Amino acid sequence: MASQPKWGWKLGTRLLAASALVLMVGAGAAWLVAFLTGQAIFHDHMLMAEATDPPVVAHAQEAFESAWTLSLSLALAAAFIASVVISFFLARRMGRTLNRIRQAAVHVAEGDYAARVPEGSMGAEFAELAAAFNQMAGKLDHVEQTRKRLLSDLAHEMRTPLATVDGYLEAITDGVAQPDASTLAMLRDQVHRLSRLARDISLVSTAEEGTLSMHHTHLTVGEILESAITQARNKNPSGSVSLQSEADETTKGLVLSCDKDRIGQVMTNLLDNAFQHTPEAGQVTLRVTRAGAFVRIEVKDTGDGIAAEHLPHVFERFYRVDTARDRAHGGSGIGLAIVRSIIKAHGGTVDVQSEGPGQGTTFSIELPIASSSR
Ligand SMILES: Nc1ncnc2c1ncn2[C@@H]1O[C@H](COP(=O)(O)OP(=O)(O)OP(=O)(O)O)[C@@H](O)[C@H]1O
Ligand SMILES: [Mg+2]
Repeated sequence: MASQPKWGWKLGTRLLAASALVLMVGAGAAWLVAFLTGQAIFHDHMLMAEATDPPVVAHAQEAFESAWTLSLSLALAAAFIASVVISFFLARRMGRTLNRIRQAAVHVAEGDYAARVPEGSMGAEFAELAAAFNQMAGKLDHVEQTRKRLLSDLAHEMRTPLATVDGYLEAITDGVAQPDASTLAMLRDQVHRLSRLARDISLVSTAEEGTLSMHHTHLTVGEILESAITQARNKNPSGSVSLQSEADETTKGLVLSCDKDRIGQVMTNLLDNAFQHTPEAGQVTLRVTRAGAFVRIEVKDTGDGIAAEHLPHVFERFYRVDTARDRAHGGSGIGLAIVRSIIKAHGGTVDVQSEGPGQGTTFSIELPIASSSR
């Protein structure tokens, strides 16, 4: 349970007490100085003026004492009034600003992430506090939006395979369908699709939270290319879409510090997409070049292409250009989100280019070269 806050004095009282303390110290110092040095200076001047007549000296002494007591008291009173007025207005303005921040915090705590604090005119520190608060609320808002979208997308993705499994089980129960090999294969397919969905979504969530576990090793660009090409050829043995690789020996020898399996997954996702979206007699090219301190890997195909309006969204979770067709391929639209998260976790970047439908697509990733290899 949260501990009860200790309220203590209010801001105005604290300000007033602080200025009263300053006043008291100032007045005490002024009185001490006047008492210790004022008397001596006064007597010196009386002697210099040769005023030795006791009644005259006593009068002058009395005048001097009343003058400094009066001026000190008046100064003290004026300073006290000024400090009360200033403390009051300052406390009121600061109180109002703090109250706005408190109200916004209460709204955020109640789940209203759109609450923001105006910057106000209370100076740099309050403006910085308001900006930091707004940044926090903005981030929470974004996380909440993502969470809601993720849940609804996930529910949507699960509905189709679940409905299929449910429909078949019902048909088998009613004796309308037979639990033969093809039905069982179909059911297993749907279950695989669901388990792949669960695995992918958990991977992309951990990656986006920045908690993806990574096992960095040193790999040459050549090794990465080789295993990606072998895998792609095994998956597409017909050879109706040709696969080419373009990389010179120097580039192949560059070393990257990366997680072998995760980078393998990135290459698989990009190549799978390229093959899926390239019709027969098309071509997929894997091109690797050096770009300063980075290695640039391009996966280029001569296939379907992507219209300009879809390009900025293809890395979003569950985004598919042609929902019905892409789903029929068995895709759930997470592949590229995984690619982006993994590459980001390696300190790299990803990009996509396409001249439009039918014009082919190029996905490019840039990964930092290990410092020992630069
Ligand atoms: N090479 C490509 N050519 C044309 N469109 C592509 C290409 N790669 C991806 N896309 C489009 O981007 C969408 C998102 O791709 P992504 O890999 O994230 O999902 P998916 O392939 O549909 O499903 P998953 O990868 O999860 O099995 C695809 O549905 C497709 O519409
Ligand atoms: Mg994909």
